[in-house]
Amino acid sequence: MKDTRENRISAAIITLSDKGAKGEREDVSGACIEKMLEESNTYYVEEYHLIPDDEEKLETLLREICDEKRARLILTTGGTGFSKRDITPEATLKVAEKIAPGISEAMRAASMQVTKRAMLSRGVSVIRNETLIVNLPGSPKAVRENLETVLPTLIHGIEILGGEAQECAAE
Ligand code: MTE
Repeated sequence: MKDTRENRISAAIITLSDKGAKGEREDVSGACIEKMLEESNTYYVEEYHLIPDDEEKLETLLREICDEKRARLILTTGGTGFSKRDITPEATLKVAEKIAPGISEAMRAASMQVTKRAMLSRGVSVIRNETLIVNLPGSPKAVRENLETVLPTLIHGIEILGGEAQECAAE
C-alpha cells in the first residue's frame, strides 16, 4: 500500500453528482473532505474523482482503487438519499467483501442530534481488500458533521486492516 507523503495514509475522495460532473455545480463537499483530511495530519489525498450518479461507474472505480491498492480509505459524498438517482450505497455494497456497519451507525446516531433527517441517509461502510470505504451524505454541512464524528477513530481500523496494529489497547 503506498503511503508516501510524510508517512500519511493514502485516501481517495469520490463525489457523486450529476450536476457536478457536467460542470454545472461546484464540488464544495469534495473540497470540504479534502480540507478535513489534510488538517487531520493523518491522511493525504491520493486521488479525487467527480462522477455522475451512475452505479456502474462508481462500482468500477471502487474496485479499481481497492484492487490496485491505490488508497487505504475511500470517502464518497452524495447519492445516499431517496432520490431515484441515489445509488451510492448499492454500488458500494456490490464491491463489499465485509461490511463495517458501526461506522455508519455512529454517524447517523451523532447526526440525529443535529437533524432528524439524518435517518434518511442510507450510507454504508464496507471493506474491500485492504481498503475501507465510507459513504457520506452530499451537503458540505452533512459531510462536516458526519466526518468529524468518525475520522479520529477510522485510523485504528485501517491499521488493523493493513496488519500494522494487532492489539486493541483500551482507550
Ligand atoms: N447528516 C447530517 N449530519 N447533517 C445533515 O444536514 N442531511 C440529511 C442526511 N444526513 C444531513 C445528514 C439529508 S437531508 C439527507 S436527504 C440525507 O443525509 C442524504 O443525503 P444525500 O442524498 O445528499 O446523500
